[in-house]
Amino acid sequence: MKKVLVIMITATLFACSSDKNRSEIYKDASAPIEQRVEDLLSRMTLEEKVGQMNQFVGVEHVKANTATMAEEELKNNTANAFYPGFTEKDVEHWTEEGLIGSFLHVITLEEANYLQTLAMKSRLQIPVIFGIDAIHGNAHAPDNTVYPTNIGLACSFDLDMAYKIARQTAKEMRAMNMHWTFNPNIEVARDPRWGRVGETYGEDPYLVTLMGVETVKGYQGDLNTENDVLACIKHFVGGSQPINGTNGSPTDLSERTLREVFFPPFKAGVEAGALSLMTAHNELNAIPCHSNEWIIEDVLRGEWKFPGFVVSDWMDIEHLYDLHATAENLKEAFYQSIMAGMDMHMHGIHWNELVTELVKEGRITEKRIDESVRRILELKFRLGLFEKPFADEATTMDVRLCDEHRTTALESARNSIVLLKNEGVLPLTSSKYKRVMVTGINANDMNVLGDWSTIQKDENVTTILEGLQQIAPDTHFDFVDQGWDPRNMNPAKVAEAAARAKQTDLNIVVAGEYMMRFRWSDRTDGEDTDRSDIDLVGLQNELIQKVAASGKPTILILVNGRQLGVEWAADNLPAIIEAWAPGMYAGQAIAEILYGQVNPSAKLAVTIPRSVGQTQMIYNHKPSQYFHPYAVKPSTPLWVFGHGLSYTNYTYSDLRLSATEIAKDGKVTATVKVTNSGNRDGVEIVQLYLRDRFSSVTRPVKELKDFARVPLKAGETKELSFEITPDKLAFYDKQMNWIVEPGEFIVMLGASSADEALLKESFWVK
Ligand code: BGC
Repeated sequence: MKKVLVIMITATLFACSSDKNRSEIYKDASAPIEQRVEDLLSRMTLEEKVGQMNQFVGVEHVKANTATMAEEELKNNTANAFYPGFTEKDVEHWTEEGLIGSFLHVITLEEANYLQTLAMKSRLQIPVIFGIDAIHGNAHAPDNTVYPTNIGLACSFDLDMAYKIARQTAKEMRAMNMHWTFNPNIEVARDPRWGRVGETYGEDPYLVTLMGVETVKGYQGDLNTENDVLACIKHFVGGSQPINGTNGSPTDLSERTLREVFFPPFKAGVEAGALSLMTAHNELNAIPCHSNEWIIEDVLRGEWKFPGFVVSDWMDIEHLYDLHATAENLKEAFYQSIMAGMDMHMHGIHWNELVTELVKEGRITEKRIDESVRRILELKFRLGLFEKPFADEATTMDVRLCDEHRTTALESARNSIVLLKNEGVLPLTSSKYKRVMVTGINANDMNVLGDWSTIQKDENVTTILEGLQQIAPDTHFDFVDQGWDPRNMNPAKVAEAAARAKQTDLNIVVAGEYMMRFRWSDRTDGEDTDRSDIDLVGLQNELIQKVAASGKPTILILVNGRQLGVEWAADNLPAIIEAWAPGMYAGQAIAEILYGQVNPSAKLAVTIPRSVGQTQMIYNHKPSQYFHPYAVKPSTPLWVFGHGLSYTNYTYSDLRLSATEIAKDGKVTATVKVTNSGNRDGVEIVQLYLRDRFSSVTRPVKELKDFARVPLKAGETKELSFEITPDKLAFYDKQMNWIVEPGEFIVMLGASSADEALLKESFWVK
């Protein structure tokens, strides 16, 4: 017995001294990452490990909010962080102690470098990873390139552009010492009341999937250079079909709908290499996503083999206790979430203590904690943070807002603007329209930057009025300012615009929603800004109608994120443009389109319903959806998915299939001719839809399965081929097996999802 004890003591002493003396492999950049992770993990205390799993907001954010908001207000405000009784000094101290693994909402390089300096003082010098919502460029931070929001990008159907924007954003982020973007948002938007539609790539799972994949690849590269950042696919899952349209409200979705509609972009995101994922605010079929073992452990890790880490959304683990009430206290909430597979907590002060207690009490094993920490550390090593924890303040602006990135911002803005209606009035000429009145809340405001953008410097944003003045210098633009706030429009200003409209040759009303987050509670669109209708807010309709009553041609330009039911305008105005939020070059891009310097090419990535009562209105609905149409009002949308006009005409002809019969594992090639039959060069977005004519379970009336952006010179014809492979024909049968069923398949090729815009041919699977 004595002998055993002596051996044990000697072994422990040896382990301790060897621990101190053994070489610090984790600091050796040439050692394999796996070894570095294991070495570091073996040196960490439990407290340090739990700290790596915790994220905080930066000190400037804490200071700014504590300075401007009352305690009660802060507690109930999910957009702003507050740690009662905890000051920025405590945040700094914890960082020096190695108890914080990550920060978010740090928006200057100076602060990022400063916090990293504190982390470098910690015992093991583990760098923090900075996460930020770089959703369309790193726009959440000042002095960065601001590209169109995701919905606009999706309307360009331009996958190369999605990749390019993500790549450039990654470079700008690294130049600011940011390593991790909370994008792409690959939720499939199915409800226009939901304020986050503009943050998504629209309603079609296929388009969302491809946009998401390119974006992930663009951000991450090989995730081993100084220009790569970690992508975060979010929000998993179902929050884009909330039961009442409000953000974070319950979702009730069948496994079929999840697997057919909501899972595919996430599965593809994982396959594309996304190494972080954020769970969704909402409960899914009565189980909050943040404690949902089925989606995290079974589907994400089990089925899809996701190797990355899962981060919670803002205070959503806390919400298991204080909102969903599936946990009786915070500690239980943390327990439930970790046991469901959560790796990192966004954000707060109670995590460290309570999770450490849970381990000490034996409810959570240290092995389980190690799993999460391992995932997080691995990515810190891969991103090179141990070798290069800082970014260079002297050279940061060489990258941010550089000419190449600005060119991309302009080009992507041009490609994202949808011409919805044009009865001959566009393009404008300065000789015909010498005097033009411009009015509306979005005519001369930075709101064109969209949600997830901070205020940028004036010289880095072209408003629509400025763009018009720049592109048509010979035109007299008479601006009637309606302010930025749709809820508080001044009737006298509306009357003034109505009067001045009569003295012009043409009027432009720039309407829409308000999205800038710095006026969080004044917004009408964006995160946590959901609506019970989709009409124009305030006096905007009145403004449009009164200006149009002048009898002068009146054009409507919309700046918004969600779809707007502008039925009156659609019926009465000669031209309407859906600009979404085109970013820093909004004004220039819109003016170039208005004046015909750019031929519009974008097509809708969402259906535009007439009214909120038409929800859920999507193009890929089931056959019975309109069997009994609505009484009184139409059952058709204002504009269909895939719709978008140009200043030229495209004609489709000669749709041919390479076979009329194939085996279940066979392929068909569809060939079609597309001619630019007008007299301007342009880019046409050619769309291929499929329908499974008869099937053992109901299938959508059509589904987008391929598309191409095709540049066509005036008079030019191109022949295009699309390969239809078995994965495009397969679906989940009654037993949820993924199969191709024999029978007829209809191939539809054309300019939009409208039946009349599509050529059709069938083939049979035998
Ligand atoms: C949003 C996330 C975002 C996070 C951090 C949350 O409120 O839902 O999408 O990444 O805040 O800003």
